[in-house]
Amino acid sequence: MIKIDGKELAKTIKAEIAVEVAAQKAAGGKTPHLAAVLVGADPASQVYVRNKVIACEKVGFTSTLIEKEASTTEEELLAIVAELNRDEDIDGFIVQLPLPKHINEEAVTLAIKPSKDVDGFHPINFGRMALGLPCYLPATPFGIMQMLERYNIETSGKHCVILGRSNIVGTPMSVLLSRKAKVGNCTVTLTHSRTQNIKEETKRADIIIAAIGIPNFVTADMVKEGVVVIDVGINRVDDASRKRGYRLVGDVDYEQVAPKSSYITPVPGGVGPMTITSLLMNTLKSSRREVYG
Ligand code: GUN
Repeated sequence: MIKIDGKELAKTIKAEIAVEVAAQKAAGGKTPHLAAVLVGADPASQVYVRNKVIACEKVGFTSTLIEKEASTTEEELLAIVAELNRDEDIDGFIVQLPLPKHINEEAVTLAIKPSKDVDGFHPINFGRMALGLPCYLPATPFGIMQMLERYNIETSGKHCVILGRSNIVGTPMSVLLSRKAKVGNCTVTLTHSRTQNIKEETKRADIIIAAIGIPNFVTADMVKEGVVVIDVGINRVDDASRKRGYRLVGDVDYEQVAPKSSYITPVPGGVGPMTITSLLMNTLKSSRREVYG
């Protein structure tokens, strides 16, 4: 069994990005610039956004953090988005989700210029992904594709079972892994809450991608020997022995499933750390106009 170390891989990729940024700057090229917009004071969102800004600084990007009160109107937010769309120095930006209830997230996502949508949430980027055109991949799928590629995990001809059909993980992963590409060529089964017998599907899987948000859902009896397991879940379960009163577990029962796996991602320290790396890679690509010219 090989543990896929997302923390270490993210560190390696960030170091590679830092080298590329230094070379780009030394050659008189542009310093990549990422902006993040945070509306309200949700503590989890504050941590995520802060980590994104720190990551930018570490690799030599410029970053701009725009913090607005929870009472910000949709109109005001759309005006900020329009300004970021116009600002030529900004290569990419994100509007941290979730937004306060009175703001329509879809309207905001649609207002972001696709060439600056480094989250890869705009339908234009999703459509380009589905067609195999240059695009910004969303953070989690991009991170998973990097893990599969850099650990040289064979995907061609393999049966991949995905648990969960969300717009940001399950559905894009089903598209990416079925594509004719170096990491791809899988036969994909996309399972969800209406799937009749999930165990029947997972037992046949060479690769399982679990993204349903149910702690320890995948157990040893549900997988075959040698399976590759990518666990996207980040679930809090009560744990009185921890100072903060909880611990994080994935959608896969790691203790049970790891001994039967050929490769497996832990939680924490697996897919999670890879997501910021994806955002940095998208921003670097944008600064080079690699995707939209
Ligand atoms: N909230 C949780 N994850 C994300 C993400 O990847 N991008 C944005 N914009 N908001 C999020």
